[in-house]
This record gives sequence, structure tokens and C-alpha cells, in this order.
Amino acid sequence: MGCILVTGVTGNVGQEVVKKLEALHAPFLCAVRNVDKARQQLGDSHTYVKLDLLDPSTYDSALRGVDRLFLMYPPETSMEHFHGFIRRAQELGVQHVVYLSVKDVQYMPFVPHFKNEKFMRKLGIPYTFLRAGYFSQNLNMFLLDEIKRHDRIYVPAGKGKTSFIDVRDIAEVAAISLLEGGVHRNQSYVITGSEALDFYEVAALMTKVLKRDIHYANPTMKEFTAYMLQKGLEEPYVKLVAGIHLFTKLGLAKGIRKDFTRITKRSPIRLAQYIEDYQQVWK
Ligand SMILES: NC(=O)c1ccc[n+]([C@@H]2O[C@H](COP(=O)([O-])OP(=O)(O)OC[C@H]3O[C@@H](n4cnc5c(N)ncnc54)[C@H](OP(=O)(O)O)[C@@H]3O)[C@@H](O)[C@H]2O)c1
Repeated sequence: MGCILVTGVTGNVGQEVVKKLEALHAPFLCAVRNVDKARQQLGDSHTYVKLDLLDPSTYDSALRGVDRLFLMYPPETSMEHFHGFIRRAQELGVQHVVYLSVKDVQYMPFVPHFKNEKFMRKLGIPYTFLRAGYFSQNLNMFLLDEIKRHDRIYVPAGKGKTSFIDVRDIAEVAAISLLEGGVHRNQSYVITGSEALDFYEVAALMTKVLKRDIHYANPTMKEFTAYMLQKGLEEPYVKLVAGIHLFTKLGLAKGIRKDFTRITKRSPIRLAQYIEDYQQVWK
């Protein structure tokens, strides 16, 4: 058997996939754009190979000896290159792609994941699509700065609820799918938490754990966009974040699915637990 190539290892989900595979003593390689930088961030214990999805000359060496992929789509990549990489992976003998997708993708032809899933199906490469809900870790990522500086959750999500999923749980399903193969091939899993919460409830949970008052500002789309642009964030990124929360505001993000428990035989990590585990980052 060959080994697993993990992409996005310096990011949220890939980093956790690496931890799960390591704990299970599975053979894997970490695909990174900058080996030195990755080694500084993640340590010396992994084997790193250079992969820049925007540079096809890096594909073959990254895929040497690889028969399974954990694949995430960096939003800044070109889809043409991304599809070229998957095609090359198939040519070089990859037999299973576990792909990080997004919940409800089937209703969103305008998001890249829709086209990426369609491409893999058409290509005929065996896949497992992990259609993930809203990451709990968004609270320590694009929501971090406002929570730290102003004790507020600043997203235009109204009173909409979302089914938070911890990326550690997504990584667990990824590892199981990669290692068990068979039954997970050509499956689409919807990975959500077990509860849907609105951001008022999230703020209350954070207030309790962090022992300081965190409030939900609930800006309008217009206020959010103007503020983030004035803060210096790039327009495409601000639009993407606004779009994700509009979906929540419209009540479309609250669905709960049981795929996680069915596959792992346990309950997903609750948001309160995630806040406990990560509390240092907001201090
Ligand atoms: N946030 C959510 O709630 C949510 C929910 C469902 C699905 N998703 C999907 O999850 C994905 C993001 O996952 P994430 O949060 O784990 O990622 P992330 O933390 O944003 O990290 C991005 C990763 O992509 C790598 N990367 C960027 N450009 C690259 C290139 N040209 N070639 C190779 N690698 C490259 C980065 O590596 P470097 O170290 O080289 O920069 C980094 O490891 C997106 O596709 C998003 O749509 C997100």
C-alpha cells in the first residue's frame, strides 16, 4: 500500500488530519508550499513534500508513492490548476480522494466546491466528500480579532442559527475514510455538530467560559462590509464572509445531520467544549 498525501496541513483542518493520522500510525506525507515554514510551524517529526497547486511542476514529486489524498481547496487557488492536480493524481495512481467540501453544496452551483465535486465525479476518481458545516474554529480565525479587541462577535448573521462543527471532528471522519477506504468510497457525508446555535447563544457561552462580557453586535450586511473594508481586509474575502453569514441569517445553516455519529460512534464536540479547549486564544 502507498501512503496518504495531506494538503492544507498548515491550515485548520489539514493540521488536525495530520494529528489523527499520526495517532493511528498511518503513513502520510505533508504537502506544503514552503517546507521550511511548515517545519517551523509543525515540527520536524513529519515528512514534508513541496506542493504548490498553482505550480504544476511540483505535482509529480509530491504524488510519488501516494495512493490516497486528503484534499482541501484553498480559496485563492485557480480551479483550473486544482482540477489539473486531481487529474494528475489519478494518472499517477491515486485511488481515493477525501475532499473537504461544504454543507448544502448541492444547492450552491456558484461555490467552487460544487464544481470540484462535479469534476471528481465525472473523472471517476473514487471520492469521499466531507460536506462540512460552519467551523467552530471560525471563532478563533476570522472572528478572533473583534472578540479579542472589542469583546464582540461581529458577523452579519442576524438571529440565524448555525450547526457548528469542530474541525477536529471533521479530521476524524477524514482519517477514518482514508484508512478504511471501501465503504466510504463514493460517499458524501454531511458533517455537522449536534446543536444549532445563534450568535447570541455563542456570545453567552463565551462570556461564561472566558469570564468576561462578550456580546454579539449583529451588524447589517452593509455595516459589516463597510467596517471590514475600512479595517483593510480584501474585498473578495469580505464578500465571502458576508455571503456565508447571509446564508445563516436566512435560516439555511441550522440543519443537523447524524453522519458524524454514524461513522465515529460518538457525539460531536459541543461548542462549549471547543470554547473551553481554545480559551487561551481569546485572552
Ligand atoms: N470556515 C468554514 O466554516 C468552512 C466550512 C466548510 C468548508 N470550508 C472549506 O474549508 C476550506 C478551508 O480549510 P481550512 O480552514 O482548513 O484552510 P485554511 O486554514 O484557510 O488554510 C489554507 C491552507 O491552504 C494552503 N494553500 C494555500 N494556497 C495553496 C497553494 N497554492 N497550494 C497548496 N496549498 C495552498 C495553505 O498553505 P500555506 O501554509 O502554504 O499558506 C493552508 O495550509 C475551504 O475550501 C473552505 O471553503 C470552510
